[in-house]
Amino acid sequence: MNDNFTQNTTPPSWRATVLTLYPDMFPGPLNEALAGRALAEQIWSLNSVNIRDYAHGKHGSVDDQPFGGGPGMVMRPDVLAEAIDATLAKGAIGPVIYLTPRGAPLKQARVREISAGAGVTLICGRFEGVDERVLESRNIEEISIGDYVLSGGEIAALALLDAAVRLLPGVVGAAESLREESFEHGLLEYPHYTRPRQFEGKDVPEILLSGDHERIRSWRRAEAEKTTRNRRADLCAGTMSDCVNTRARP
Ligand code: ADE
Repeated sequence: MNDNFTQNTTPPSWRATVLTLYPDMFPGPLNEALAGRALAEQIWSLNSVNIRDYAHGKHGSVDDQPFGGGPGMVMRPDVLAEAIDATLAKGAIGPVIYLTPRGAPLKQARVREISAGAGVTLICGRFEGVDERVLESRNIEEISIGDYVLSGGEIAALALLDAAVRLLPGVVGAAESLREESFEHGLLEYPHYTRPRQFEGKDVPEILLSGDHERIRSWRRAEAEKTTRNRRADLCAGTMSDCVNTRARP
């Protein structure tokens, strides 16, 4: 069995575990940049578990035809349940989340909660999906990263992990840059400018050169509100009194 729980002698770090049929897709892009540096520094750890290691019989099949007919194949509950149970018994940490377009849309608030915990265990489906009974019996949370269909949960898992890992203490240098970013106040981010002061005939907004930090702060707030109102009216109820959309924020 090719997992690395037993080799892990480092102090507790945020522990990510991914159950997948394609373990070589991990850490993939998470080995680069911020997440990659944090992985090397053992701020977090990543263990990918091959679901196929828990297959039964000489053919080792992990999927089967859907009862009731229909296209595609369904991941078997017995194989997946065994993979989940064995992985948790070896030290994987919950919540256990199945990535699926049927899941609850992933929001920054849930990312913050996941990041604030001790880790996460992610299940990546392929085929048409996984047998419903294992989701019920193991009380598995279902999350979607958007209203489109990926060919499997792996890329969704990478996205969720990237979002969570960058919030771990010590991963992003300036805490300030986390506080100011999109979704932190229920708003999208204000626009940014840097050198050169003039680019293709366009100037940097004068106020940003004024050195008046109070006026800059309120200009940025107004810009953030304008962008949010124009692009994502669904986000702004409760944040802006003049928002066209009055639905409660999720
Ligand atoms: N698996 C396939 N599509 C997905 C999506 N949009 N979100 C999460 N997991 C998925």
